[in-house]
Order: sequence, then C-alpha cells, then structure tokens
Amino acid sequence: MNDGEFSIEDFLTQLDKYPQFKTGRWVNSEESKILCDRVKTCEIYFESGTANGFSALNVALETSCIVHTFDPVNRPKIWESVNISKDVIEKICFHQDKFEMASPLIQSNTELHKSFFIDGDHGQGFVLRDFATIEPFLKSKDVIVFHDLRNNSVMKAWDQIRQSREFYSEEKIRTTRKMGILVV
Ligand SMILES: C[S@@+](CC[C@H](N)C(=O)[O-])C[C@H]1O[C@@H](n2cnc3c(N)ncnc32)[C@H](O)[C@@H]1O
Repeated sequence: MNDGEFSIEDFLTQLDKYPQFKTGRWVNSEESKILCDRVKTCEIYFESGTANGFSALNVALETSCIVHTFDPVNRPKIWESVNISKDVIEKICFHQDKFEMASPLIQSNTELHKSFFIDGDHGQGFVLRDFATIEPFLKSKDVIVFHDLRNNSVMKAWDQIRQSREFYSEEKIRTTRKMGILVV
C-alpha cells in the first residue's frame, strides 16, 4: 500500500501485511464512523489512548479537526507504515504522555469548539480522571465520546459522569463495544 490514496478499508483488508498492528486494540469501522460523525463539527480533537493511532488517523482523515492524541506508551503508528498525504499527518500531534498532562493544552484552546475521545485506561478511576482533566474547560456544544461501555468499569464511570452534570445531552450507542456520547 505505497501508491495512491490511503483507504482505511483497504488497510484493514491487508492487515496481515502489518503484524505490528494485529493487536486490534482499536475502535472498529462502525465505531470509527460514529466517532468521526460526532466530532466532525468541532475544530479540535483530544484523545486519551492512542495505541496504534487508528482512531486518531480516522479523525484526521474524515474531519477537519486538529488531532491531539495522548498515550504514555509509544507504539508503532499506522501513519508511519503507510502512504498518507502530508496534510493529513500534519494534523496529528502524538503526545507520549498520560492524558492528565493534557490540561494546559486544552486550556490554551478553550475558545475552540472541542471534542474528546476517552479511550485510555479502562479502569473506573482512570475514566473519571480523564473526564476530570477536561471538565474545567468544557464549553457549550463541546462533544465527549466514550468507548467500551461494555466494560463494567467504564460503564460505572459513564453513569457517574452523566449523572453529575444535568445539562448534558447524552446518548448510548449499541455498537460492538458500546459508545457513550455527551454534548455539553
Ligand atoms: C484501547 S487502546 C486505544 C485505542 C485507540 N483509541 C484506537 O481506537 O485506535 C488504550 C490505550 O490507552 C493507553 N493508556 C493507558 N493509560 C493512559 C493514560 N493515562 N492516558 C492516555 N492513554 C493511556 C494504553 O497505553 C493503550 O494504548
């Protein structure tokens, strides 16, 4: 896959060529489409949990968001192995750091229409901490997407968070691993 335009669908059908990405620790295609659809009206996207960069790359490809993605572990990124236009790659900024270190960056972009994807450590306390990192900077219409509500710990954190702020509109989507969407 070195020529022509990069396509996520083609990449997924050729995964056997890329053993470094076979962990599958990422959103599936349906979830990725929902994620992109919900954040596409935003100007900037912050993500907890990069892994191999699948969700971050999808957002960079399918929306006009600037993408900031955080992970303390620096795994091989998809965009390092396939041919993707420079314009797309330049929209992605990988931070090798825990998401809680994102506060100053979020604060300096408070005025933008923001979106967030919470897909880092799935422990209840970690999901709550990721939300605590973004909460002080939330503004009307900002979008927060949670992945993996099938995980009990994530579901407990989701329930706690959505009950803590009545002015959120929220929905839960029955994808493979369930997603939660909050709009401020
Ligand atoms: C399920 S994977 C993320 C998948 C990715 N969002 C995708 O769909 O392509 C979870 C990632 O969260 C990372 N992680 C763990 N603790 C974290 C933290 N405090 N901040 C950010 N990422 C964290 C892990 O290293 C792991 O790579």
